[in-house]
Amino acid sequence: MKLGIARERREGERRVAATPETVQQLIGLGLEVLVESRAGTASGHGDDAYVLAGARVVRELEPGSLDILAHVRPLEPATAAALRRGAVTVGLASPSSELATVQALAAAGVTSFALELVPRISRAQSMDALSSQALVAGYRCVLEAAMRLPRFFPLFMTAAGTIPPARVLVLGVGVAGLQAIGTAKRLGARVSANDIRPASADEVASMGGTFIRLDLETAEASGGYARELSADRGALQRRLLAPHVAQTDVLITTAAVPGRRAPLLVSKEMVQGMRPGSVVVDLAAESGGNVEGSVPGQDIEVDTADGQGTVTLVGMKDAASAMPADASRLYAKNVANLLALMVRDGTLAVDFGDEVVAGTCLTHDGEVRHAPTAEALAVSGGPASRDATPGGAAPGGATKRESENKGVV
Ligand code: NAI
Repeated sequence: MKLGIARERREGERRVAATPETVQQLIGLGLEVLVESRAGTASGHGDDAYVLAGARVVRELEPGSLDILAHVRPLEPATAAALRRGAVTVGLASPSSELATVQALAAAGVTSFALELVPRISRAQSMDALSSQALVAGYRCVLEAAMRLPRFFPLFMTAAGTIPPARVLVLGVGVAGLQAIGTAKRLGARVSANDIRPASADEVASMGGTFIRLDLETAEASGGYARELSADRGALQRRLLAPHVAQTDVLITTAAVPGRRAPLLVSKEMVQGMRPGSVVVDLAAESGGNVEGSVPGQDIEVDTADGQGTVTLVGMKDAASAMPADASRLYAKNVANLLALMVRDGTLAVDFGDEVVAGTCLTHDGEVRHAPTAEALAVSGGPASRDATPGGAAPGGATKRESENKGVV
């Protein structure tokens, strides 16, 4: 069976869905691997490395000739439409925002797997691309902040005087936030953090950070995710956070609620209340923003309220793609591990009795199997699945994640 590895075409995307290492793993499954020329160049893998690993490098993939197509960013609708009936795709699909592609995949009878939908169970951790890419993004946020901060992160005691450590505040302590805490600690900063899930307090402590307790009702939903706060409680949270934000040198925000716009945690006034020279990095900028006024891909200088300088507000964009070598290394492993569940002796054996396979499936046999996406398509006039129950159980009994997390992939 032919597996194609696509060269990513979206602007700013530098990752690849297979590395020479995973090509060997995929060939070991009995697959013939075709890599589109220059697919790995931006992540440090030239065409020759793929050939050495046993792949065939082709100038352009012909979607209609493939049995399986692996990709990073969502496919274009035209590519999805060109795939043959029964073909399998594996990659990030952003189902809630890329409805035209979902519709094209369903119409073409493609069995598509969206890595955002991988169930968060232990057995599926090695396929969880949201986690692997959030780890990269959380690390990168801290480096972006450190490069812009006009002072050191660590404590220095020198003959010329003592320099105190920078203070870093992390809001939202999922995978990316925890990695941001760890990275800022390794750079020597004094780190504090807040999240509305109570379980995160221990996680913050385990990374060496100080958890900030707010007098705020916790908001934990099933599966370890956060619930959206009501408008009143959101406003209260901002009021309670304001003094902590005002005292920090670096603010990093990574908060997300699955299926919702990113929560607004920091108002413009809170940014203006920071000291001149402070840096804010909003990892959620691409999904609505945790910080008022952040723009994906831009640095904005915000005048401080005291009129004495500015705060740099960084809207992160393509954070994981900014470190394409290691992001691809992890992502490619996620893809290969998922395919290993579905390929037996070189042929496709898609078992919907397996909760990981069923939970990750977006479209199959003309249907949209992810209920929230089917609902969204039905509202927009596209095809809906027969069993589209909002947030309901997936075929095969698995509980599906309601939506992909945006901003870090
Ligand atoms: P996420 O990207 O959905 O959200 C990031 C963080 O923002 C979350 O910790 C969330 O609680 C927080 N947040 C939401 N609204 C907030 C608000 N108003 N104020 C402050 N913080 C707010 O989270 P991610 O990284 O997907 O992790 C979510 C959970 O899933 C965590 O408990 C994580 O440990 C768990 N997880 C489990 C895995 C597994 O079992 N295989 C794999 C990865 C994560």
